[in-house]
Amino acid sequence: MMECADDLDRIMAVMEAAFDPAFGEAWSRRQVEDAMLIGNCHYLLVDSRGHPPPPGIPAAGFSLSRCSLDEEELLLFAVHPGFRRKGLGRNMLFRLTEAARARGIRRLMLEMRRGNPAEALYRAFGFRPVGERKNYYRSGSGEAIDAITFAYTIE
Ligand SMILES: CC(C)(COP(=O)(O)OP(=O)(O)OC[C@H]1O[C@@H](n2cnc3c(N)ncnc32)[C@H](O)[C@@H]1OP(=O)(O)O)[C@@H](O)C(=O)NCCC(=O)NCCS
Repeated sequence: MMECADDLDRIMAVMEAAFDPAFGEAWSRRQVEDAMLIGNCHYLLVDSRGHPPPPGIPAAGFSLSRCSLDEEELLLFAVHPGFRRKGLGRNMLFRLTEAARARGIRRLMLEMRRGNPAEALYRAFGFRPVGERKNYYRSGSGEAIDAITFAYTIE
């Protein structure tokens, strides 16, 4: 559950700036709220220094993930364009891994459209490809794009 309604605003502010509309990957406010209500969902926020933002301070990045038994799926992961390539994405993956370990999670999973530059970050962190779905996504211009599933084992 959202601990603070303000956090939903902070997530949506990053969401609206971070995702390229050409791929339709951003979630609506309602979708994020609903994910929170279903349960087993966790989110984290970072400010521009990689810390949890104090009340009233905008987030520079966020993640949203969902647990199922000992696996956790990364549903959304984004850093505001104004704060990229400063290590915030890597910082969030470390924090997510620590939080997931504390929840008893053994494996992080995520699905990414082929060609997303985020792949370099995921691979450098230790995620490995474990599957793909051909033509799973469709861009705004109608182009079919494969989905690649990555997994990271928490030691
Ligand atoms: C993916 C994303 C979260 C990365 O955030 P970030 O804070 O810029 O990432 P970091 O600064 O921690 O990057 C760490 C390393 O990952 C790699 N990397 C990150 N972004 C990269 C890019 N666009 N191109 C190539 N390598 C990249 C680099 O090796 C980088 O290290 P370096 O800057 O020292 O070269 C951000 O680009 C984003 O929000 N993208 C849009 C939303 C999205 O597509 N999310 C992923 C959905 S699967």
